Amino acid sequence: MRILIEKDYDAMSGRAAALIAEEIERNPRLVLGLPTGDTPVGTYERLVHLHKEAGLDFSEVKTFNLDEYAGLSAEDPNSYNRFMWDVFFGRINIGPAHVSIPKGDDPRPDEFCRRYEEKIKAVGGIDLQLLGIGGDGHIAFNEPGSSLGSRTRVVTLAKETIADNARHFGKKELVPRSAVTMGVGTIMEARRIILIASGKKKAAVTAQFIEGPVTSMIAASALQLHPSVTVILDEAAACKLRRLDHYRWIMTLEEERAGK
Ligand code: GLP
Repeated sequence: MRILIEKDYDAMSGRAAALIAEEIERNPRLVLGLPTGDTPVGTYERLVHLHKEAGLDFSEVKTFNLDEYAGLSAEDPNSYNRFMWDVFFGRINIGPAHVSIPKGDDPRPDEFCRRYEEKIKAVGGIDLQLLGIGGDGHIAFNEPGSSLGSRTRVVTLAKETIADNARHFGKKELVPRSAVTMGVGTIMEARRIILIASGKKKAAVTAQFIEGPVTSMIAASALQLHPSVTVILDEAAACKLRRLDHYRWIMTLEEERAGK
């Protein structure tokens, strides 16, 4: 894993957006996997800025979102669908035909999940997957205990996740109890992965998934087995890493080599 430590949330977001923009410039037909949550908002802001000010072109990019709350329609104000259009898709030049987001209210959810996997395969797989991380180590909605080989499916949310996400719904009774999510196995097939984490409340889980054992109890720890992962942290999220000095040392050497 390549570990990059940035000063704060803004710098973390800038770094993630720059890496994504580079990939789009290299391959305008990039297939991009995308997360929701508060963490990626700054990255989306930066990408919108690059689109508006520097002409970053999304017209041929295809996107696949990680997850959606079960039972919520695409129009529901709390749906991830709505979030993505408000925060990102509605502000760049991407058409609805190039956007895929799991459907929370499909009458045949298992069939929907199978088709979602097929749709990813049909476009040649995900080139670059952006991820956040939940306080319990989940990526997408793969809660502790999720099989590291899991595929897109309906899952039951952990009580901790319901409590964490209650802030968006007003109170925790209103948070759906289940969700449709890409599996850990689905995510692991992406060619390149960038995980972003920010703030003190992510520090413990960040140290666990990077430096602890690979375990289904921390879904993000599966990323240790992936050949191309970049983790971008701010100082607060990085503060519990045992090998912090070593990661900084690597960054210094890389900067020297790049003549910065
Ligand atoms: C939700 C999403 C995850 C996201 C996590 C963290 O549970 N399903 O994909 O990584 O929240 O959210 P935040 O970035 O708000 O801490």
